This record gives sequence, structure tokens and C-alpha cells, in this order.
Amino acid sequence: MVEGVTIEVAMAADITAVHRLEEAAFPQPWRREFFEGELHASGRYNVVAKRAGRVIGYLFAMWFFDEMHVNKIAVEEPERRKGIADALMDGCVRFAREHDIKSISLEVRRSNHGAQGFYEQLQFVPSYIRPRYYPDGEAAVVMTKALG
Ligand SMILES: CC(C)(COP(=O)(O)OP(=O)(O)OC[C@H]1O[C@@H](n2cnc3c(N)ncnc32)[C@H](O)[C@@H]1OP(=O)(O)O)[C@@H](O)C(=O)NCCC(=O)NCCS
Repeated sequence: MVEGVTIEVAMAADITAVHRLEEAAFPQPWRREFFEGELHASGRYNVVAKRAGRVIGYLFAMWFFDEMHVNKIAVEEPERRKGIADALMDGCVRFAREHDIKSISLEVRRSNHGAQGFYEQLQFVPSYIRPRYYPDGEAAVVMTKALG
């Protein structure tokens, strides 16, 4: 846990802030409607990190039987390197273990070395490259964490 930061289930009222953060964090951000759709979909683990009631990070994931996939994770720039993404992921891993999920996977841009460093310290390992995964043609590294 990070002092002064809470992790809460994402609600409709959070989506404006989530989307603003998304636009600042990603070169090809999800549209707002994607986030709204995720709130109503089944098999989802969608949370926000808040400081003093303000959204400063989010993690959107989906799960199906024994597999989980992280769709999105971001933390606003001034709040980075304070352990907030770790706290978001920690809740996700705890949820996964409680639901007998065996692995968590995600895609990350091949050029996004910062995020790859973040995932590696959480024991995600690169599984394979998915060429031209992103709309601008960049490849994704698929990374997976096995849950023992
Ligand atoms: C990746 C991201 C979510 C990490 O969030 P964060 O809250 O800063 O991460 P944490 O503070 O929890 O980091 C925990 C540890 O992960 C590693 N880490 C985090 N960011 C890193 C970076 N940019 N480079 C290398 N290692 C990093 C470090 O070991 C760090 O511990 P330390 O700060 O004590 O060295 C954040 O940089 C971000 O929002 N980036 C833009 C969006 C993005 O790329 N999302 C991932 C898409 S796949």
C-alpha cells in the first residue's frame, strides 16, 4: 500500500478522469466508450488508484476461467515511481489467486522499456513477439506471469 492512496473498484463517475489519464499516457489511447463498455462487461477486474478522491492511476483487466489479461495500466506522470502501479498489480494478483487463475498476460510495446522493466520486477517474462499488434504497426511483446 502507498500512504494516502486507495485502490477502488472503477465506477462510471471515474471514467472522465481515467480517459484523461489514458490520453496523456498512451500514443494511441482507448476511446472513452471502450472504458465504459469494460465497466459493464462480465469477468472484469477494473480498479482505480485515488489520492484524496482524485484518480491518479488505473488497471483494467479481464479474466476467463484460469487466465487473466491486463488490458490497461497507467499512473499519472507526477505520481510515478511511488509504488502505485505495484499496488494496482498487487490487488490484481491477489484477486487472481483467490479465483484460481493460473497466469496473467499482457501486451507491451516493444519500445516501452520502462513498462517492461516494471513488469519484469513483478516476474512477468517475455513469451513471444506479436508483430504489427498496434495500429501504428509497432510489435507487442507478450509477457506472462505464472501464478504458483
Ligand atoms: C509503467 C507504469 C504503469 C509504472 O507505474 P509506476 O506507478 O511508476 O510504477 P511503480 O512505482 O509501482 O514501480 C515499481 C517498480 O517497477 C519498476 N519500474 C517502474 N517504472 C519503471 C521504468 N520506467 N523503468 C524501469 N523500471 C521501472 C521499478 O523497479 C520500480 O521500483 P523503483 O521505483 O523502486 O525502482 C507507468 O510508468 C506508466 O503509467 N507508464 C505509461 C503507461 C504505460 O506504459 N503503461 C503500460 C502499458 S503496457
